[in-house]
Amino acid sequence: MSDKIIISPSILSADFANLERDIKLVKDGGADWIHVDVMDGHFVPNITIGVPVVMDLRKITDLPLDVHLMIENPDKYIEPFANAGADILTFHYEAVEENNILNVIDLIKSLGVKVGISIKPKTAPDVLLPYLDKVDMVLVMTVEPGFGGQTFMDDCAEKIKYIKAKAPENLIIQVDGGINAQTGKICKDNGSNSLVAGSYIYGAKDVKSAIQSLK
Ligand code: DX5
Ligand code: ZN
Repeated sequence: MSDKIIISPSILSADFANLERDIKLVKDGGADWIHVDVMDGHFVPNITIGVPVVMDLRKITDLPLDVHLMIENPDKYIEPFANAGADILTFHYEAVEENNILNVIDLIKSLGVKVGISIKPKTAPDVLLPYLDKVDMVLVMTVEPGFGGQTFMDDCAEKIKYIKAKAPENLIIQVDGGINAQTGKICKDNGSNSLVAGSYIYGAKDVKSAIQSLK
């Protein structure tokens, strides 16, 4: 694994009436990916973006679209999101029956899309052990999913260390929730190599400096 840190700004904190402008803003600031938070009002208590928005984002950016599915029954929506142009599809461990997780991983791979699996703050990291060599990315949530602007949960940092110790060399370990320069450093020190940040980046006066401070 290289030392490169993949920065994935979350457009949840962007201006939804100006997504093209706000994606260009982070691209010019050095963003590597664009993090797209999909919420269904069931798996999490909020509703955000769906397939048509991803389809239109695909037309206006060449940055990889890092799509975080916070939805029940993700298997029903994987093909539409892949066809819309997602480059990475991350589903939640908690949203899929254990005996169906490998099928979901295979489905995503079969569509030529990178696959991520995510755990919420209360989920122990050992549930991911059977899947670490089958996915491209693990996403460790460091807030309860559903909303931007929450405070980083320090105790989640231990999970990053645990996963890093068990993971294959090239597994991407992403964190999401309450990331800023300080909490981002904690995550990197524990083995994370991809940081999602919404309010820290889009709330910054100088977006480029904010992105660079995470690298
Ligand atoms: C929360 C989302 C995050 C959110 C992060 O459920 O998954 O991606 O946008 O926002 P911040 O960086 O503000 O905590
Ligand atoms: Zn997210």
